[in-house]
Amino acid sequence: MSRKPIIAGNWKMNLLQEEAKELFLAVKGYIKDYTKEQLPIIVVAPTFTSIAAVESCRCNCGCREKLFTSAQNCHWESKGAYTGEISVEMAKDAGCDYIIIGHSERRQYFSETDEMINKKAKAILAGGLIPIICCGETLEQREAGETDNHIAGQIRAALDGLSEEDIAKSAIAYEPIWAIGTGKTCDADEANRVIAMIRNVVKEVSSAKAADSIRILYGGSVKPETIEEQMSKSDIDGALIGGASLKADSFISIIDKTMKLN
Ligand code: 13P
Repeated sequence: MSRKPIIAGNWKMNLLQEEAKELFLAVKGYIKDYTKEQLPIIVVAPTFTSIAAVESCRCNCGCREKLFTSAQNCHWESKGAYTGEISVEMAKDAGCDYIIIGHSERRQYFSETDEMINKKAKAILAGGLIPIICCGETLEQREAGETDNHIAGQIRAALDGLSEEDIAKSAIAYEPIWAIGTGKTCDADEANRVIAMIRNVVKEVSSAKAADSIRILYGGSVKPETIEEQMSKSDIDGALIGGASLKADSFISIIDKTMKLN
């Protein structure tokens, strides 16, 4: 089956409200000449304080069907005494359709575990949003030949207890940690190999149907110069982009090149 590509910008802890709006409006200006059928699914993940600012730029011009907002994290509980956290309902209320979970920066700096990521995935899907579940290995794990085992373990844990239908609508982002923010993109064939392995794990834990439907993105130093080769591979369904999504020209170029490959 053909899976519609997702091009997602993870803005991380960058951009004040006016800067976020400016970038969003530039992307919106670019996509206005194209139909949603022509475009990949475009997602931007501003920091929490800029989600409302970005949302205020979405209107009834059709951009709501082409350009989606994501949170970068959430809590699995619906409300309560969890200082500093936001719930799925709050992200939805702010306008988000997607939520990134399990990013390696959250696993590494905020001690997020596979179990927490599984709880978040369940809460996101129960709330009607789409999780973008991140996984990835360190350089040490890669050099020790542990990549596949490590990633398969992260995916099995994240998807534990999810229905076939929920898995089918989810997205996964394979982001080797050594490729994030380093300028060292993972070789496209190797990224495709790992992503095909992830798809196989999805088939094992769920079904061939879920494995065929789930979108699996690559992330880690994606740039306009790398996207065409990455998108030409059989199992890579899009990109999760950090640095290159913070500048209108590079993010738009990535969208444009992806669209023209379709
Ligand atoms: P870079 O594109 O800056 O390497 O970041 C990738 C990433 O972590 C996206 O979530």
